[in-house]
Amino acid sequence: MQKVTHSSARLPIWHKIYQFYLLLCAQFRRVKGAEYAESLFKDIDEYRHLYLKYTGSPLETAKIFEIGYGARPYRLMALISLGYEASGIDLDSPILRFRLKEFFNIYRRNGIERAVKSAIRYILFDGTDRRRLTAELSKRGRGLQIAESRFLVGDTADVALGENSLDVVLSEDVFEHIPVESLQILTKKMAKAVKPGGLCLIRPNVFTGITGSHLVEWYPQNLHNPGIRRKSEPWEHLRKKRYAADTYLNEMKRSDYRAMFLEDFDILEERVKLPTLGHEYLAPQIKEELKDFDDAELFSNQVMFVLRKKKVIQADPDN
Ligand SMILES: C[S@@+](CC[C@H](N)C(=O)[O-])C[C@H]1O[C@@H](n2cnc3c(N)ncnc32)[C@H](O)[C@@H]1O
Repeated sequence: MQKVTHSSARLPIWHKIYQFYLLLCAQFRRVKGAEYAESLFKDIDEYRHLYLKYTGSPLETAKIFEIGYGARPYRLMALISLGYEASGIDLDSPILRFRLKEFFNIYRRNGIERAVKSAIRYILFDGTDRRRLTAELSKRGRGLQIAESRFLVGDTADVALGENSLDVVLSEDVFEHIPVESLQILTKKMAKAVKPGGLCLIRPNVFTGITGSHLVEWYPQNLHNPGIRRKSEPWEHLRKKRYAADTYLNEMKRSDYRAMFLEDFDILEERVKLPTLGHEYLAPQIKEELKDFDDAELFSNQVMFVLRKKKVIQADPDN
């Protein structure tokens, strides 16, 4: 039986439980408000705007592929429900219809810890999340549609994508979880799969930013939360390195992504989601300790790289 998991086996159990508890608190706060469902549609509006800006065509005409749609894949569900020609892949099996078979698939692929976490999250949060998603869709005259065949399961570095078969590749909060060697294969694959002029909109949560550790206590929504008791310090992951999140991280800097993407793509924009996030935590002594990292690194968080495949320059046969 193949087991694939992102959960670190190195962490002491009490730390894992504390992180999971903080995560649950963050999720409870999230489902209290409608911001999450609204944020999905803001993302989609951003994709529409960028696609129109750089291709002159509406996103409705595009074939879209999402890398790492997530265990609760609402962005891809929203795209499909809005009528876009969208599909995607994730290493983890999704829960689409709350069938026993789906939990069994997660157990088989990702182990018992992931299956139990998925079940807890599903029971506690998915009802509300789906209601909110359905409400947002109905404001746009649409109903929730789940096209199961469009949710591929597997490693994105192994997926077969036809040459020039896609107009847009999307990814949110995923690339930082993929080992560098796999990313190098993946970016070449993306460059081959996307049509000339098509776009890749890739938004990792960059390691060097204040949220880059993925410790829940430094999630953006927890940065000003007086209820949080932090064990770690700001940019702990670049300094004392005493705590690690319960997830695999490749630790790539923003400049590393830039260098990797530039091999096959032109970078049209780098869009930092929250440009001022964490400024108040960069005390002079911390800034001194982090002097090897410039502000563009330290004030990175979720950074969208807007990428267009480089034009192949044909060799001149006369030269
Ligand atoms: C933090 S979640 C983000 C999910 C979703 N994009 C979102 O914004 O909510 C990262 C996701 O990336 C997926 N992932 C990590 N490595 C992957 C790989 N090599 N191939 C496909 N999916 C991968 C994980 O399974 C996980 O669902």
